[in-house]
Amino acid sequence: MIAEIKIHPQPEALAEALALELQKASKQACDTGRTFNLVLAGGSTPRAVYQVLARPAFEKSIPWKCVHFFWGDERCVPPDHADSNYHMARETLLDPLAISAENIHRIRGENDPQVEAARYAEEIKNNLKPQSSQLPRFDWILLGLGADGHTASLFPGGEPIVEPSGCCAVAIQPQSGQKRITLTSRVLNSAKRVSFIVTGKSKAQVVAEILNELPESQNYPAAHVHPEQGTLEWFLDADAAEQLKKT
Ligand code: 6PG
Repeated sequence: MIAEIKIHPQPEALAEALALELQKASKQACDTGRTFNLVLAGGSTPRAVYQVLARPAFEKSIPWKCVHFFWGDERCVPPDHADSNYHMARETLLDPLAISAENIHRIRGENDPQVEAARYAEEIKNNLKPQSSQLPRFDWILLGLGADGHTASLFPGGEPIVEPSGCCAVAIQPQSGQKRITLTSRVLNSAKRVSFIVTGKSKAQVVAEILNELPESQNYPAAHVHPEQGTLEWFLDADAAEQLKKT
């Protein structure tokens, strides 16, 4: 699996490039009468991307009625909590674009984590309708990257409690102890397309460790994201890419 690395000078240019890719991919799906099942990344990095996607130019050019929104992970907090990944996406993208409720498949952070992991797995399967023995296959999964090599809420050394279908898990954020619900690496690796979105100097070292396949990256969950029958991309700004040439 060769990852495609796309480096942009600033987060704004990265966001615009990603928006154009989403425009192309979602239009292809919509033109064939299919929904486009998109998994949003959590954390703060994607905020700039979502704000660009909500701009009038993309509001008009992307067939939003075909796009169904899911999350790669969620903090176990209420939907209006400042920590909620859904809350950030709602503020920056879903509300400005007036996305229909039936296109939004949030993880209910306010629920009991184990119960919600199973419920969310069921909602995914009901919408993506995988073959009985198959894992659901998302059209596009956006992921962030932590400086410790975590992605979604898959943390180094953290053994998430996977619900029976194997799609979702309950995880614990190691520093804060905060409970999370996350897609499992098996679901990430069954996607048609996975893109990491990474910006800022603070991520330059971990990006270089992973993309240069340095030994220390072997414990990083993000280093094990390789869609078996899909494409893997890294959308980086210049700061996050600055150590790539050095190691
Ligand atoms: C979350 C994310 C997590 C995030 C990374 C990077 O819920 O926090 O899913 O994996 O993408 O921690 O976060 P920043 O973008 O805030 O650096």
